[in-house]
Amino acid sequence: MTQKEFTPALGFKALTPLYDIVIALLTRENLWRGKLLSYIAPADNDRILDVGCGTGTLVTKVKQICGAADVHGIDPDNAVLNLAIGKAAKANVEVIFHQGFLRPDTVAELGTFTKVISSLVFHQTPLNVKRNILESMRALLRENGKLYIADYGQQRTALMRFLFRCTVQVMDGRSDTQHNAEGCLPVLMKETGFIDIKELAIVPTLTGSISIYSAERGDVAG
Ligand SMILES: C[S@@+](CC[C@H](N)C(=O)[O-])C[C@H]1O[C@@H](n2cnc3c(N)ncnc32)[C@H](O)[C@@H]1O
Repeated sequence: MTQKEFTPALGFKALTPLYDIVIALLTRENLWRGKLLSYIAPADNDRILDVGCGTGTLVTKVKQICGAADVHGIDPDNAVLNLAIGKAAKANVEVIFHQGFLRPDTVAELGTFTKVISSLVFHQTPLNVKRNILESMRALLRENGKLYIADYGQQRTALMRFLFRCTVQVMDGRSDTQHNAEGCLPVLMKETGFIDIKELAIVPTLTGSISIYSAERGDVAG
């Protein structure tokens, strides 16, 4: 895959510098990220990978919560990675950033992790890529490893469907986003071998509802 084969963080490359402010203003970011972090509960012996780490907000907070954890972020977009590197440096924490897509061979390059985390990535990817990312995430997890995802999930009310349509679907298009709105993520997690899949929280926002999911790797080799 090349740099062209992903949707930039805010839909268009030129808008990337505005990403953090838009997410803060429109998505009740502190609320859903706070909940996500409390479920991730980073611990000293954790090795954690943030997939599609973007501008590094989540991965930097994970490392701030637990300085002893080995914390990594991966993203194909150099523009957001540069912002992420700056954010971690400003917070004075050491996060290891990798440039690239998550692929099956990422395991050989990065090793395995106790927790794989991700926020706001899946709604921007085609259905086959959602599935591929989940397969690679599962391959990256150690036995009993945990997956935590925050993203636009099933839009359950007319108001949430309307807001999602007027905001996220305008920025990111309908084809990648609609499967999320119809609730595809837990289904795909099950199909790719994850077990104990839970929708832990649903946060209504001005851009549609953001769901927080957890799942376990399961014991069958992927
Ligand atoms: C909307 S941004 C979310 C950034 C960040 N996780 C957050 O919560 O603010 C989605 C990010 O996913 C990245 N991305 C898209 N496809 C990816 C893939 N296959 N593997 C890893 N990252 C990917 C994009 O480059 C982009 O930075």
